[in-house]
Amino acid sequence: TGMTTLDPGFSNTASCSSKITYIDGDAGILRYRGYPIEDLAVGATFLEVAYLVIYGELPGPDQLKDFSDKLRENADIPADMGTLIDAMPRNGHPMALMASAVNTLAAYYDDSVDPGDEDQVELATIRLLAKLPTIAARIYRNSIGEKPISPDSSLDYVDNFIRMTFGDTHADSELGDLFNQAVGMLLVLHADHELNCSTATVRVVGSSKADIYASVASGLNALSGPSHGGANQAVLEMLEQIRDSGISIEDFLERVKAREMRLMGFGHRVYKNFDPRSKEIKVLASQILDRDDNPDELFALALKLEAAALADPYFTERKLYPNVDFYTGVIYRTMGFPNNMFTALFAIGRLPGWVAHYREQLHDPAFRIARPRQHYVGASERRLPGLE
Ligand code: CMC
Repeated sequence: TGMTTLDPGFSNTASCSSKITYIDGDAGILRYRGYPIEDLAVGATFLEVAYLVIYGELPGPDQLKDFSDKLRENADIPADMGTLIDAMPRNGHPMALMASAVNTLAAYYDDSVDPGDEDQVELATIRLLAKLPTIAARIYRNSIGEKPISPDSSLDYVDNFIRMTFGDTHADSELGDLFNQAVGMLLVLHADHELNCSTATVRVVGSSKADIYASVASGLNALSGPSHGGANQAVLEMLEQIRDSGISIEDFLERVKAREMRLMGFGHRVYKNFDPRSKEIKVLASQILDRDDNPDELFALALKLEAAALADPYFTERKLYPNVDFYTGVIYRTMGFPNNMFTALFAIGRLPGWVAHYREQLHDPAFRIARPRQHYVGASERRLPGLE
């Protein structure tokens, strides 16, 4: 162990080679399979991007139809599983409920749990992608005391998720199309981000040859924390707290600088410049929230908070910029999602990345169980009383 390098949080340790996602954190560049996310955000649907991330190439028309058909066919969850979800605490955090539900998929579908069988892994891939929105929407419906809405196989992936969540109200509203497009774009921007905490978790769990359902359920749990995917909820709660307490932005930032709290939605392990996702999301937020007839108070507050932080050397010296989570919450909120559903949306977006990494790892010639070392700093040998 004298030879091992201590690297807390794995800041400097590459644990695999990967062809999925390229990040240049200093330049603020993010590409999936070589395609810049700025292009994918405007030029590809979430399903096309999911296919790209998982299978390595953009789908042709037939491949896309086949992929989309399979997802539509598999969107329902087993009736028993619906009963199980309904029996869980209805006001429990959706991430806890989602991870639990996904964990049970291995039990419902034990015909697709062998990582050594490519057909089984493919079947599980389709089931996970098809069912996660259905699970998330059911959890949301339960939380508001409404009956679940079954998937509609005539609708595409994102429209179907929104309808299972809100019913037909959003489709009817003036902003319905814009919202659905915005959700699609946000999912695209979340689709992968190389070895973030949840994806690293999926790989670590998968490295023991655990099945893909177990690995993805672990990813959901890793995502739930406020330093990771839970940050989108934490940002909105921070904005609400600033608004409701009447504290000035200057005083709030002083408290952050005194380390009483972190500025949520700021900072990133890899980006030491603008997070390119955050730039896209800010533009989207202004399209939706800056309409003359509908100025959004929390968005305005977020803009002021960002400007004040970026004008303060504490943040610039540490290269702290808004990350992907800074502006998503204000958008989701306007669409009618409650704060505690934001991270579930992140999860639906990130699922293709988790699946792609799990699958890539299975074919990696360097595949080995993940087993980091440690530096032991505990007691040296000592004896039980009476046995000295
Ligand atoms: N507010 C205030 N100070 C911060 C923040 C922040 N959000 N983030 C980092 N710092 C400071 C930190 O105190 C430290 O300062 P010093 O060197 O004086 O001690 C320095 O910046 C480096 O921080 P770190 O904790 O070593 O950085 P890290 O790479 O380990 O952490 C992070 C990355 C994302 C966990 C962190 O920036 C953070 O907690 N951000 C707030 C939560 C958040 O928005 N998370 C979402 C991340 S983006 C995508 C996602 O995963 O969801």
